Amino acid sequence: MKDVLVVDDELGMRLAMEASFRRDGWRVRSASGKNEALAVFRSAPCPLVVTDMRMGDGTGLEVIRGVRALRPETAIIVLTAFGSVSDAVTAMKCGAVDYLIKPVAFDQLIAAAGRAAGTSQALAPSKTLAPDAPVVGSGSLRAVFERARQVAGSDADILIEAESGTGKEVLARFIHACGPRASAPFVAVNCAAFPEHLLESELFGHVRGAFTGATGTRPGKFELAHTGTLLLDEIGELPLNLQPKLLRVLQEREVDRLGDSQPVKVNVRVVATTNRSLRALIQEGTFRQDLYYRLNVVPLVLPPLREHADDIPDLVAHFAAKHSRPGTGIRFAADLLQRMKEYSWPGNIRELENFVRRGIALSSGPLVGLEVLEGIDFPETARDANALEAGLTLREVEKQLVERTLEATGGNRTRAAAMLGVSLRTVRNKIREYGLPPRGREVGCEFVR
Ligand SMILES: Nc1ncnc2c1ncn2[C@@H]1O[C@H](COP(=O)(O)OP(=O)(O)OP(=O)(O)O)[C@@H](O)[C@H]1O
Ligand SMILES: [Mg+2]
Repeated sequence: MKDVLVVDDELGMRLAMEASFRRDGWRVRSASGKNEALAVFRSAPCPLVVTDMRMGDGTGLEVIRGVRALRPETAIIVLTAFGSVSDAVTAMKCGAVDYLIKPVAFDQLIAAAGRAAGTSQALAPSKTLAPDAPVVGSGSLRAVFERARQVAGSDADILIEAESGTGKEVLARFIHACGPRASAPFVAVNCAAFPEHLLESELFGHVRGAFTGATGTRPGKFELAHTGTLLLDEIGELPLNLQPKLLRVLQEREVDRLGDSQPVKVNVRVVATTNRSLRALIQEGTFRQDLYYRLNVVPLVLPPLREHADDIPDLVAHFAAKHSRPGTGIRFAADLLQRMKEYSWPGNIRELENFVRRGIALSSGPLVGLEVLEGIDFPETARDANALEAGLTLREVEKQLVERTLEATGGNRTRAAAMLGVSLRTVRNKIREYGLPPRGREVGCEFVR
């Protein structure tokens, strides 16, 4: 008889899980929280425990620790809310063998349970482990990931415009992983990393003798990504000469290898990224408008970290788990997190990740505190940003204030008016007066800098 203990503080969820396990022939016991779970487990241990992460009287992590202290060979599956992937990563580091994201599909739960029970002796994580799953956060970051998930199922080409280090590649991989091409290749080309003649061959391939040094036939990245996803990183750096060729490939879905007269059919979904505004490049004459429109079928804009500072604790927990040895329980102190929220992070999430790694290295114990800031000019930047206001005219400050308020409200003028303490009409007039963009920076609308 297969035995399982299910732990969840939501009665409905508990009953649903019990019913699904019973239907599949399991003997089920359940508990409504951490304390009850550990008591039940102590009185009669079982080989598999399924636990929720956030419960009234404790966390899934405490369940994992308690259970594993009693019986290290027990297999544990955690259930996490969509958006708390850092929880899942931490749980896996603490010894969970698998995790499922709520809302849970019960047939998936039963399948995962079957796998976990079969491997309950082996503590190796199961294949569904995804330690690199991104933190989707809340608010503006989450909105982008949700939209990405919606469009992942289609074949529409995607353009991600965002500052450096905001997670463009992470988002591109997420789209690939969420869609029907997930088991096909994900291939990336950085358009800024090659001189023009090499980039052309890198993208489209060449045949023997196409140019001096082409000693054999080599497929390009488009062909290598066949049936999968091709990430064209830093598309704004694509030389003008190659832009019509790329446009042709996107339209015809066939590539011409250099030196070959026979086009090759490819089935590829393209995700392009840029940290420069392509519209500005069009103005400068270095990017073709027709290519821009062809690529920009689905625009996604990742917010800079300073605009979603509330996600910093989740991101820090994720990186702390990623960059420390399992079981060390590294945490960042609340006052340090607060200082981190105030900093402007010009290097965005990449800079944050490096900061977390440094913090772990500098810290002597599991609690990383303010002392790691010693000797680096860290949160001063936020204050410097305010200091900038001195020396500006009142008009300039007013323009910035209206602009930032509109950004903060996602372009909602009524809310902006309320925040500014003026009428809607005044906000409209200011927008016109200062030539501000008609809508704020919102997911799905044009990239406005
Ligand atoms: N949502 C996220 N969850 C977890 N890690 C993230 C997330 N976003 C970014 N990172 C991490 O931050 C770093 C930078 O991310 P990524 O390389 O995707 O940024 P980018 O926008 O492509 O940067 P660049 O413009 O410099 O190429 C990576 O180490 C990545 O793992
Ligand atoms: Mg990148």
